[in-house]
Amino acid sequence: MGTIRRTRRLRRNETIRSMVRETKLTLDDLVYPLFIIEGEGIKNEIKSMPGNYHFSVDMLEEEINELVTIGIKSVILFGIPGEKDEVGSDAYDVNGIVQKAVRKIKEISSEMYVITDVCMCEYTSHGHCGILTSSGDVENDTTVEYLKRIAVSHAKAGADMIAPSDMMDGRVKGIREALDEWGYKNTPIMAYSAKYASSFYGPFRDAAESAPAFGDRRAYQMDPANSDEGIREVEIDIEEGADIVMVKPALSYLDIIRRVKDNFNIPIAAYNVSGEYSMLKMAVENGLMNEKVIYEALLSIKRAGADIIITYFAKDIAKKKEWI
Ligand code: PBG
Repeated sequence: MGTIRRTRRLRRNETIRSMVRETKLTLDDLVYPLFIIEGEGIKNEIKSMPGNYHFSVDMLEEEINELVTIGIKSVILFGIPGEKDEVGSDAYDVNGIVQKAVRKIKEISSEMYVITDVCMCEYTSHGHCGILTSSGDVENDTTVEYLKRIAVSHAKAGADMIAPSDMMDGRVKGIREALDEWGYKNTPIMAYSAKYASSFYGPFRDAAESAPAFGDRRAYQMDPANSDEGIREVEIDIEEGADIVMVKPALSYLDIIRRVKDNFNIPIAAYNVSGEYSMLKMAVENGLMNEKVIYEALLSIKRAGADIIITYFAKDIAKKKEWI
């Protein structure tokens, strides 16, 4: 006659709990986003994202050195150019804001792994992620030609990895071909594959000054109601040559992360986006929850199946050695 099964036996102290722990969060998993702005002497806190800053290129040294010291090995860059125009010229300029930042970061620390976000919304005067037709639609194939130029210019500046976040069709294929053609065969592509049209990007659009001047992004980003479509997007990006696929946002899309994990054999990144960050950060700052909620949220993203987490919490985690 069986006795009751005592699952609590393995929870009696931290030693045994840590022996049977299934998921571990480590600093190796984390990528920290940085916002680089044109100008000099700028380190301004972004109001909608407490603890994150706009940096001018000349102010990066202290920040990069701090990241290295606390053990963060990778950053993803977003640029806010001095001038925007219809075709987002600064995005592919050899002296564009991101190109300057990549060169500077590599000069400060050649070990820092620099990923660049490839998109046009921060650079276009209309705030859309591509080139517009006269009727205001984003023209897919023309946009891909621009994205190829942007990607190659990032690689030339020294970027270690290219991350297209625009959601145009065929952009992974186009960017792969362009990188290969220019001699960057070894530069990997991390594709924002299942990127949803999400309200959780609100604080980022404020930080990156990238809100669309009219309309929204639902004609290129995905419908939050769809899951099969996310799998289709991932499948296409893998076929086109993505090295890593991304699901974005993360916390409201853990089911998508898990489906990708179960269906494909490829590293998965998840973007713990600005709204997810600010919500928890402000809740902790206001004493609604203790700060370990940050660890719990990131752990859930790993448990769902992500290998890499892009998160504004990277520094908070790195400073809490007892969590990792
Ligand atoms: C650029 C881009 C966005 C984010 C990352 N890359 C904004 C958007 O698509 O509107 C959002 C990141 C975040 O919210 O933290 N297209």
